[in-house]
Amino acid sequence: MAKESGKKWVLMVTAQTPTNIAVIKYWGKRDEKLILPINDSISVTLDPSHLCTTTSVAVSPDFTHDRMWLNGKEISLSGGRYQNCLRELRARASEVEDEEKGIKITKKDWEKLHVHVASYNNFPTAAGLASSAAGFACLVFSLAKLMNVKEDQSKLSAIARQGSGSACRSLYGGFVKWIMGKEKDGSDSVAVQLADENHWDDLVIIIAVVSSRQKETSSTSGMLETVETSMLIQHRAKEVVPKRIIQMEEAIKNRDFPSFARLSCADSNQFHAVCLDTSPPIFYMNDTSHRIISCVEKWNHFEGTPQVAYTFDAGPNAVLISHNRETAALLLQRLLFHFPPNSNTDLNRYLSQSGICTDSNV
Ligand code: ADP
Ligand code: DP6
Ligand code: CO
Repeated sequence: MAKESGKKWVLMVTAQTPTNIAVIKYWGKRDEKLILPINDSISVTLDPSHLCTTTSVAVSPDFTHDRMWLNGKEISLSGGRYQNCLRELRARASEVEDEEKGIKITKKDWEKLHVHVASYNNFPTAAGLASSAAGFACLVFSLAKLMNVKEDQSKLSAIARQGSGSACRSLYGGFVKWIMGKEKDGSDSVAVQLADENHWDDLVIIIAVVSSRQKETSSTSGMLETVETSMLIQHRAKEVVPKRIIQMEEAIKNRDFPSFARLSCADSNQFHAVCLDTSPPIFYMNDTSHRIISCVEKWNHFEGTPQVAYTFDAGPNAVLISHNRETAALLLQRLLFHFPPNSNTDLNRYLSQSGICTDSNV
């Protein structure tokens, strides 16, 4: 394992991965273990200089078991999702040699070696800003580098999917589609890039953090309850989303902002409607979220054509997409007017996002 026996060594890789926000949402699984969805979804990957996860992974013969720290606190890796990702990656690990440090790890060594993981999200965790997406994408990407896994992005996206469904889309920058796939083993349920980060770089994304508190219902349990109890979800997955996917791909290809905005807003609203149709109902948005929607809807109606698109994931925080910098500046002005920073609303912070992002990088 190490050339000079008895000498301690640690090999480490650090990677950064951005989050992604779905404009056509994934909500509902047909296979809980493999994480296979009931519909395709499309997302925008954010610029990694803003909302992202940074993960360091390390291996050493001195580590006695796998351990992970999330935002400075140790968490258990016993959950199936972490184990599934680790197992898939270990099975594909290959030889690593660092001549300078005198380290050689063979394929066989990886079966016995343990890893330590330290991950940090620079934005609220479990608050509806897709921390599981950036988190698992970064975990898989950094471990794949450390273990010298020789698989393409598509295969890595399928492994990240087994950590959290939305994570498969964060392996790519720009606009990304997660194809639900047909195979029982999930081999064709992968993410593909529809357009890279330069395709539509006029877009400006503003994240309005309404509340950074951890949500009461995780995405995983929320969508399971929806599939079990909602009558609307099957109609959404089978009738509505397939048409919207085609229209959204077309809107992105043509940089057609009005269609992009109408589809994004409609899909966000339908996703929250199926949450309400769940028994017991799930409320991810709050009064401030509803006020933001009204504000954007009134503005778009007044102008006669959409200026800003909104979308809300499984949480109260708003993701607002404007079609250029001037509109983004006006949007910020309006938000600050309606939600002044010192007022007693809980809209506490604005993070401006310029453009869309690049691929993950080490
Ligand atoms: P979100 O809306 O933030 O994605 P979810 O309920 O989908 O919320 O997922 C939150 C869970 O994702 C966390 O409880 C944790 O298990 C996992 N997670 C979040 N960040 C990371 C990370 N950086 N690395 C690994 N797992 C993470
Ligand atoms: C509303 O990917 O977090 O953000 O697969 O159970 O980990 P699990 O769920 P997750 O769900 C994301 C739901 C969503 C929409 C989306 O990102 O497409
Ligand atoms: Co999530």
